[in-house]
Amino acid sequence: MGMKTPAGENGSIPRHISIIMDGNGRWAQRRGLPRSAGHKAGAETFRRIARYCKDLGVEYLTVYAFSTENWKRPAEEVGTIMGLLEKYLLDSIAEMEEDRIRLRFFGDLSALSPRLQELIARTAEIAGRLPGCFQANVCLNYGGRDEIVRAARALAESGEEWSEENFERHLDSAGIPDPELIIRPGGEYRVSNFLLWQSAYAEYVFSPKLWPDFQTEDIDDAIARYRTRDRRFGGVQT
Ligand code: FPP
Repeated sequence: MGMKTPAGENGSIPRHISIIMDGNGRWAQRRGLPRSAGHKAGAETFRRIARYCKDLGVEYLTVYAFSTENWKRPAEEVGTIMGLLEKYLLDSIAEMEEDRIRLRFFGDLSALSPRLQELIARTAEIAGRLPGCFQANVCLNYGGRDEIVRAARALAESGEEWSEENFERHLDSAGIPDPELIIRPGGEYRVSNFLLWQSAYAEYVFSPKLWPDFQTEDIDDAIARYRTRDRRFGGVQT
């Protein structure tokens, strides 16, 4: 341990933070509320934390909103999450330019409703007019393995040479630096099929707090913990 790394490495703010937004259901159940109330609170927390990361100077924030496995949940719960996403998309379409927040989506979007796909296409168009702005990536119908298979298929079809560089250009995260810090609230110690390729050298910070209870101070705390880590990328300390 030691805080001797120079700025620009992990002495400074990470360029890319990723979050597994876990614990919405338990947060609601503990209050005697339906799980959907937990997702609603979780969506509010996302807004708050995204703005805070932007203000800190983080360039990219990637959040796990819906996995390829989440379709197994009761239809009502899936419907609530999709409804919250639609509302978030509509608000973003209205506010993205003023807020200077680029919104992007990772995952197999072809399985989403035509309505959501249309709204996503509209946000992509607006994002194209905001180069260099803070970018929030929302993972939807996303699975790390699914992303890798889709990229592998695209690389094979392209006929390009099989290299890490060429492979990365077919991932949903093409052109975005890997996250230096991945935060998982909710008390579980799992990766849950999130950013399997991109997390190769990420530092993980786990928190027992449930996502709707997550505060800006918890982001400060996660960054402080990240800064104490000795990142060697397979090398030795010099
Ligand atoms: C995990 O908690 C959370 C989800 C599966 C859904 C996350 C969705 C949102 C926060 C709402 C929409 C997002 C945006 C970006 C507007 P869980 O339900 O697995 O919690 P539990 O482990 O306590 O059951």
